[in-house]
Amino acid sequence: MNTRFLDACWGKPVDRTPVWLMRQAGRYLPDYMRVRSTCTFLELCKTPELAAEVTIQPVDILGVDAAILFSDILTPVEPMGMKLDFVPGPVFENPIRTMADVEALRIPQMEEDVPYVLETIKILRRELATKVPLIGFGGAPFTLACYMVEGKGSKDWATIKKMMYAAPDVYAALMEKVTTMDMEYLNAQIKAGAQAIQIFDTWGGVLSPVDYERFVLPYTQRLINGLNRENIPVIHFVKGAGTMLDIVKQAGGNVMGLDWHCNLGTARDIIGPEMAVQGNLDPTVLYAPKDVIEREVKRVLDENGGRPGHIFNLGHGILPTVPPENAIHMVECVHRLSQK
Ligand code: CP3
Repeated sequence: MNTRFLDACWGKPVDRTPVWLMRQAGRYLPDYMRVRSTCTFLELCKTPELAAEVTIQPVDILGVDAAILFSDILTPVEPMGMKLDFVPGPVFENPIRTMADVEALRIPQMEEDVPYVLETIKILRRELATKVPLIGFGGAPFTLACYMVEGKGSKDWATIKKMMYAAPDVYAALMEKVTTMDMEYLNAQIKAGAQAIQIFDTWGGVLSPVDYERFVLPYTQRLINGLNRENIPVIHFVKGAGTMLDIVKQAGGNVMGLDWHCNLGTARDIIGPEMAVQGNLDPTVLYAPKDVIEREVKRVLDENGGRPGHIFNLGHGILPTVPPENAIHMVECVHRLSQK
């Protein structure tokens, strides 16, 4: 088993910098499209053999140092009582707007309501046993609440922000319930065999630092504190956190995920040596010629400056039209240029 990824999460020395890509399973891979053409996205998430197959594809094709469970951050929200569809972005038919809506949400029984997620993890642990560790994941409470309140993606997230300011009791009740669900969901993933957990807060950066501190931090902090984390590193990725790293750090976790809007070295100086970092190549660099990809990989490695506790990744998910050979090249460059 290649332990480079887990070692780096704990800040231990490694032979080469470990690398994986956020959203590494998906539409840019013809192998994924072949499986995906036989069913809908939700059916794929709910069929453990197929979900496991597409999880492993990027491990074999790209040569990355970790696998990430194939599912979606919104999978456990559906059994809370919300009607979910992907078109391809997520859409909820019945968004949350009132206290009555929040009260009607139930906390799923993970073994009964999302058995397919736990079964996929068990299959993957067997199939990855001699390969790489498996990352489980969930959305941060705020990013989940963003979709639950808006009902779909948004440019400005004005509906949830309005709730935050104009109906803070409804917002708080929703966040409490989502946090409790999230904690039980991620602990169920750990129990099933996930070896690390990544928390995606894709929309945390749409708030001012002071609103992040008031309206998001307490919930993510409670979530991370409530995880059964012994031997399980937690990666906390907040997109747009570059101007509030000192605040986001207070949520806890072992690894801070960084997007490409910050310099990785400067971010490490602010975060301090007790947390590892993950990131942070601009995903669009994967459209560049091979020599430019190599130059940019080297720049990110140089920004880290040989400090322990760096996991190479993109600053956000890989884009669906990236040529797979460019992602393969990026992984090869990280391993070659960081070799001790
Ligand atoms: O390879 C992996 O990283 C594991 C699988 C994974 C998916 N979604 C599969 C997916 C992960 C980790 C996610 C997380 C996720 N989902 C996030 C957080 C990370 C991020 O990118 O910010 C968010 C915000 C979502 C919600 C979501 N799901 C959106 C906005 C979309 C539509 C846009 C898009 O990228 O397609 C999805 C659909 C989705 N989730 C697909 C996949 C492979 C595409 C569905 C398809 O095959 O048609």
